[in-house]
Amino acid sequence: MKVDGKPTRSIWLEPDGWSVGIVDQTLLPHRFATARLTSLEDAANAISAMQVRGAPLIGAAAAYGICLALRADASDEGLERASATLIRTRPTAINLKWALDQVTAAVRNQPRAARVEAAYRRAAEICEEDVAINQAIGRHGLALIEAIAAKKPGGRVNLLTHCNAGWLATVDVGTATAPIYLAHDRGLPVHVWVDETRPRNQGASLTAWELGHHGVPHTVIPDNTGGHLMQHAMVDMAIVGTDRVAANGDVCNKIGTYLKALAAKDNDVPFYVALPSPTIDFSIKDGIAEIPIEERDSDEVACITGRTVDGRIETVRVVPDGSPAKNYGFDVTPARLVTGLITERGVIVPNATALAHAFPERAAPAKAHSG
Ligand code: MRU
Repeated sequence: MKVDGKPTRSIWLEPDGWSVGIVDQTLLPHRFATARLTSLEDAANAISAMQVRGAPLIGAAAAYGICLALRADASDEGLERASATLIRTRPTAINLKWALDQVTAAVRNQPRAARVEAAYRRAAEICEEDVAINQAIGRHGLALIEAIAAKKPGGRVNLLTHCNAGWLATVDVGTATAPIYLAHDRGLPVHVWVDETRPRNQGASLTAWELGHHGVPHTVIPDNTGGHLMQHAMVDMAIVGTDRVAANGDVCNKIGTYLKALAAKDNDVPFYVALPSPTIDFSIKDGIAEIPIEERDSDEVACITGRTVDGRIETVRVVPDGSPAKNYGFDVTPARLVTGLITERGVIVPNATALAHAFPERAAPAKAHSG
């Protein structure tokens, strides 16, 4: 996507050919700045501190984290240490494990001297694959938006999204935003309700920033507003991203997604989830019972960061001293509340049969493993 007219991705290889550039997302929306990762520790910190975040981007950053680690130590032990360090950074997005497995498989049987190059090659492929997948998701999701637009000629199509599943959460284009950008670019009158997404405000800070930079009409709403909008026919379709989809179609995404899906069901609003296939975890049969839910620092709930009128970035406390706060990062929306999964291979119904049928090469090893 473009930032002030300049094509920009969320992660890239620097011109030196080895260090890794990222957009530092902790500074948005008030400042657009990049950072340079030069070591395994840099990559791990960037993921834990959420300078990079969003399931596909976490995977891409981890892949480059292995590359940086192997430059310092290309031994088997070095590879294992790097993987063990990176897997601990964020527990919920399965793209992290997927990417680590991919790069590890690409280098494991290589002689030490060839490992660094092989790792960079696979990391770059992962990035390119992510972009192609998101473009395909965009095309499949566009058809859904077009169908809604056809039913209300001249009227605007109101979409609702939660958190940030945009280009900042992927290498480029985004998952949930891919159909939105395509629809907007084709002249469809789309408008996006952007959930602010407390506690870290990825919607208010990142999705709104992205949509604004691309000229997509949008309105930021407090997280609790979606139900009211749906009751008053002000949402035509909800579309969100995901950090992990279980084999049965249960969808794990940013905390609060489940409540939006409940409200959507009660109001007959279609609720779609956009996902790249690396986000499917066929080893998990029941999303609610088995997907690990990240719990983050309670200060993210107790405090809020923003820009003061004189331009300073400050963090202030909004919870009384002494009141405990709890910070679950994600929740699981049961498959029965999801209208469809928008994947790179088309829109599929959220159940075990359809998922395994759409991605047999991913489903088969898990089946074989579970015996
Ligand atoms: O905690 P975050 O900001 O990493 O959470 C991101 C989300 O929940 C996204 O919706 C999800 O990763 C999908 S990104 C295409």
